[in-house]
Amino acid sequence: MSTFTSEEKEAMKAEAGIAACAFVSSGMQIGIGTGSTVKYTILELGRRIREEGLEISGIPTSDATEKLSIEQGIPMLDWENCNHLDLVIDGADEFDPNLHLIKGGGGALLREKIVAESSGGMIVVADASKRVDVLGAFALPIEVNPYGWEQTKRRIESICPGPVELRGPDYLTDNGNPILDAHFGPSISDPVQMEADLRAIAGVVEVGLFTNTADVVVLAAPGGCELIRKPTARL
Ligand code: A5P
Repeated sequence: MSTFTSEEKEAMKAEAGIAACAFVSSGMQIGIGTGSTVKYTILELGRRIREEGLEISGIPTSDATEKLSIEQGIPMLDWENCNHLDLVIDGADEFDPNLHLIKGGGGALLREKIVAESSGGMIVVADASKRVDVLGAFALPIEVNPYGWEQTKRRIESICPGPVELRGPDYLTDNGNPILDAHFGPSISDPVQMEADLRAIAGVVEVGLFTNTADVVVLAAPGGCELIRKPTARL
């Protein structure tokens, strides 16, 4: 795994977050992801609205993103009045060579997946530390229903080689659900099947595996920004 200083990482986050804004133009309805990389996307979109007259509206994937987006002057949509988004820009905790992702380190995976599935394309903003050959070194976040979460945890443990941990005794997502972090280790060689297996467990609300969802990764490395496109990319 690559190691970067925290200053290098922050600079890469800013670079990727800002570069992704090149995909956004006036008239678009966009999904706005969550996390410390997308923060720079939101700030840049705010700047373009103020300085360049960019006209967009967006649906946020978390309460924190909604707050920052409003502060930056990005008009907010809601699902009552919106049934499709042009694209979503979001972060990731890991991505593999097929652009399958682990997300949810910030706990926003459910809203992020609803938004991603409603978007005409998904752009992932990431620094080089997120690139892996096989997913799973980052503990997989799984949002579960509060009812019987202990039993849901046992069922996840039956297919997870490492520990499955409740994310803090008082931690709840924006949707009021606990998160279980499942320590697979870098062993998720078939993320499509694993996503299906975990989603089949009653009590699992959503899994932080996003498979066949991302189109492009805007990857910032110390040498500059690289665009990694899936052959079937919609964008
Ligand atoms: C939020 O729940 C996550 O899915 C984030 O998108 C992911 O954790 C990446 O966040 P950072 O950009 O802060 O690393």
